[in-house]
Amino acid sequence: MRSARLCLIVFWCGLGASSLAAAASPPPHSENGLALTPPMGFNDWAHYQCHISQKLFVRTARALVRTGLARLGYRDVNIDDCWMARHRNAQGELVARRTLFPRGLKWLGRYLHAHGLKFGIYEDAGYKTCQGRPGMYGHIAEDVRTFVSWGVDYLKLDYCDPPMNRYPGLDFSQVAHRVYAAVSRALRHSGRAIVFSCSPPAYVDGKPRAYAEVMSWIGSVCNLWRTDDDIADTWKSVLSNYTGNVGLWRDAHPGAWNDPDMLEVGNRGLTLREQRTQFSLWAEMAAPLLISTDVSRLSPAALAILSNRAVIAVDQDPLGIQARLVGAEGPIDILSRPLVGGAHAVVFFNRGPATATASIRLARLGIHRNPVRLRNLWTGKTAVARRRITARVPSHGVVMFRIRTLGTTGRTAPRAPARAHWVHN
Ligand code: GLA
Repeated sequence: MRSARLCLIVFWCGLGASSLAAAASPPPHSENGLALTPPMGFNDWAHYQCHISQKLFVRTARALVRTGLARLGYRDVNIDDCWMARHRNAQGELVARRTLFPRGLKWLGRYLHAHGLKFGIYEDAGYKTCQGRPGMYGHIAEDVRTFVSWGVDYLKLDYCDPPMNRYPGLDFSQVAHRVYAAVSRALRHSGRAIVFSCSPPAYVDGKPRAYAEVMSWIGSVCNLWRTDDDIADTWKSVLSNYTGNVGLWRDAHPGAWNDPDMLEVGNRGLTLREQRTQFSLWAEMAAPLLISTDVSRLSPAALAILSNRAVIAVDQDPLGIQARLVGAEGPIDILSRPLVGGAHAVVFFNRGPATATASIRLARLGIHRNPVRLRNLWTGKTAVARRRITARVPSHGVVMFRIRTLGTTGRTAPRAPARAHWVHN
């Protein structure tokens, strides 16, 4: 894609009580009824680019099962660009590269399904993929047939080489809308449940008007869509994609998700704290959790991050409400999202170079009853609070809580300490 944009201490004080709009009414479902929670699994691109093979996907599938990640929900195994031969066959069909996939993709699809996993594939809605392989434009029907015959469950459809010349007078968004809607229709009528992942917003990142135009229709056509430039294994990139994605909370709902791109957990460019931060922020933003690293060689620490059930549960919460920014104090962003059953997930995120402290009233989180019980999702520690939460957060770190109200008056509920204090990581 082009690069247009490219030991914590927690205090809290007990006083009274009191908004994040809970948005509790049932959100609409996307038309195809798929991806009602954000997709979870693996995509090779961020870590491997074109260095892919049948062996890699077989190894990854086994590792997802062996490590328990599949059981936690990481089931989509998605092949990105470079899987196909440079030319279609005589029948106009796409062909997988024999040297990379000696047994073919139908075999691979069966292998993944036999391991309880799902099979995802990559194409481009224009003339060519970003790596110059044949695009889908003009071949929608036969390509969807091919994918169905291979048992594909998930299509990532890129937009590197848009067919602008076929639509004189139409702008970027209008052309993208037509071609993506055509593929969406073909998928819906294919007889197979195929999750549809789209890329257009990322291609107009940095062009606010075109971006808004694309965002106006994308949720009615796609199950998820890339909101930012390609993620890289650097803090700068993670921060940039977080920043681009965090304001888009209105656009997400079950079946339709903002996608700030893959997880860099397990790779070498981020510290472990930064990896935990990316994972927490992505979960808070109801983003897809797509691992892009060598899953067969995950360190225990990286595996522990990816396996944090409490954080995964936030990402996969059935209400599907993406967190919004409810406060910002110096370098600290405070995000909050309502969860099913009246709970909330709150993240204090320190973007800055030094440890910092921030505080927020429960009322600002939409919590009007007190006291509340806080559970720190990385340490497992719990505590009770009444009026506000204050967190001290290390540089590039997060403090993430699940908050649940304990009662309405506090008379029978446990007494909240005037000031509590924890030390974690
Ligand atoms: C674009 C996409 C990436 C990846 C590559 C493959 O850059 O944004 O996620 O699919 O193409 O060429």
